[in-house]
Amino acid sequence: MHLLDIIKHSLESCFLFRNKLFKTILYEIFYRYKYPKSNHFFKPPDNYPAAYYFIYKISKFINKKKISAIVDLGCGSGRLTNFLSDQTEAKIYGYEIDNESYQIAKENKNHDVKIFNTNIVDIDFKSLEAECFIFNGPLYRSEHRSDFEKLINSIHDCKKKLSKKYYIIGINLDEDKRHNAEDRNYIFNNKNLLKIVVAGPNKKVKFFEYDPKDF
Ligand SMILES: C[S@@+](CC[C@H](N)C(=O)[O-])C[C@H]1O[C@@H](n2cnc3c(N)ncnc32)[C@H](O)[C@@H]1O
Repeated sequence: MHLLDIIKHSLESCFLFRNKLFKTILYEIFYRYKYPKSNHFFKPPDNYPAAYYFIYKISKFINKKKISAIVDLGCGSGRLTNFLSDQTEAKIYGYEIDNESYQIAKENKNHDVKIFNTNIVDIDFKSLEAECFIFNGPLYRSEHRSDFEKLINSIHDCKKKLSKKYYIIGINLDEDKRHNAEDRNYIFNNKNLLKIVVAGPNKKVKFFEYDPKDF
């Protein structure tokens, strides 16, 4: 990214995270300094890493729920995967379609993180023991809608046969006209919504809990 794009993106982010601006900036400075390796890599239009403020909240949730294995669906260059491997006891799996982002994530990954250069629609969830699926922005346009539905339904199909609760964490699921992003809330049921962290009108993290007994 060019310097001008970085300045524009930073100013825009300040506006978007306005409800939690102080915390967002503070966490960003602190953790960028603590985890310098791949974390500054952005690749428009698709690879915008999650804010550290959100990632921190996700790590707290994972520790509280004692979640043992996590999948980052579209892991970009590995900001979230490395943070969670450091701050939680969980096994971490990251899947990324873009080859450049995948290479960076792979080269910089912590030893206990597994990174795959795979389309998330092709993941065989049956062979994964994951209990938590993190979704930050892939499959956001109208042409991706059927793949998005296939993905979420295949997670449910595989997990509902088991007896354990599982979690889907959705980052920025709201419509976003700047990126032609469609609303992605509709597939998640409000009764499963455990918690929501809000940093701005369409900067939110939603934590959904599913109990196979409910299917
Ligand atoms: C907004 S970034 C999120 C990165 C990281 N998960 C985070 O939260 O910091 C979304 C990533 O999903 C990837 N992606 C988009 N469609 C994908 C697909 N079908 N399969 C795998 N990765 C995909 C993009 O290349 C991008 O790196």
